[in-house]
Amino acid sequence: MIRRPLVAGNWKMNGLRASLAEIEAMSAVYDDALRARAELIVCPPATLIALAREIATRGGLGLGGQDCHAEASGAHTGDISAEMLKDAGASYVIVGHSERRSDHGETDADVQAKAAAALRAGLTPIICVGETRAEREAGDALSIVGAQIEGSLPADAPAHIVVAYEPVWAIGTGLTPTVDDVAEMHAFARERIEARLGGGKSGEVRILYGGSVKPSNARELMYVANVDGALVGGASLTAKDFIGVASAYR
Ligand code: PGA
Repeated sequence: MIRRPLVAGNWKMNGLRASLAEIEAMSAVYDDALRARAELIVCPPATLIALAREIATRGGLGLGGQDCHAEASGAHTGDISAEMLKDAGASYVIVGHSERRSDHGETDADVQAKAAAALRAGLTPIICVGETRAEREAGDALSIVGAQIEGSLPADAPAHIVVAYEPVWAIGTGLTPTVDDVAEMHAFARERIEARLGGGKSGEVRILYGGSVKPSNARELMYVANVDGALVGGASLTAKDFIGVASAYR
């Protein structure tokens, strides 16, 4: 298989030092058999990345940030650059999550600049796209996601970037699209990624599904055509649930 599945945990604004015990527990059960089938990374709050580095590395787990600034350094109080995340021990960074787009007004252009910053720093961006409930009900899901892909991916991005399709209405709600809707969207997303990047690169780009993925539905969702892994929020906070999701690949 040319696309190694990726299961990425997004802790959002959750996690104190005591939560490192969960990363330790994840490392302990991420055994060779599972590692051969899927890559696992955790994106804790930035405060925990440097602290988690050793435990994660020992267990073969990767680490990622949840957002980065487009610039490498400067007068941007409260922001974190991709270079800083890399320096702390991250190899990935999520950009354009719907909570960043809605809470912080991030546009596709902002997301594209952040993805480019990630690549500049040597991080792999996980670029998030997804329609709202109103957009899906209006029949606009494909066109919205197509436009987000066009606007959020740097045109010269390499094939190792990751795209995450996360319908906004499925995040944290317990709702998921049907497998047919996921299949339709992921096939469409791959076409749009090809249109954006060209050169056959889209065949290597991993497209994750995100939104209420849990151990009980992971198998069904992860085996849909063109789904190359998951971006997991709530179910990534404990080792039990996160490994439960990743075990879909066992
Ligand atoms: P959820 O969040 O798994 O809690 O729905 C997913 C995400 O926001 O990345």
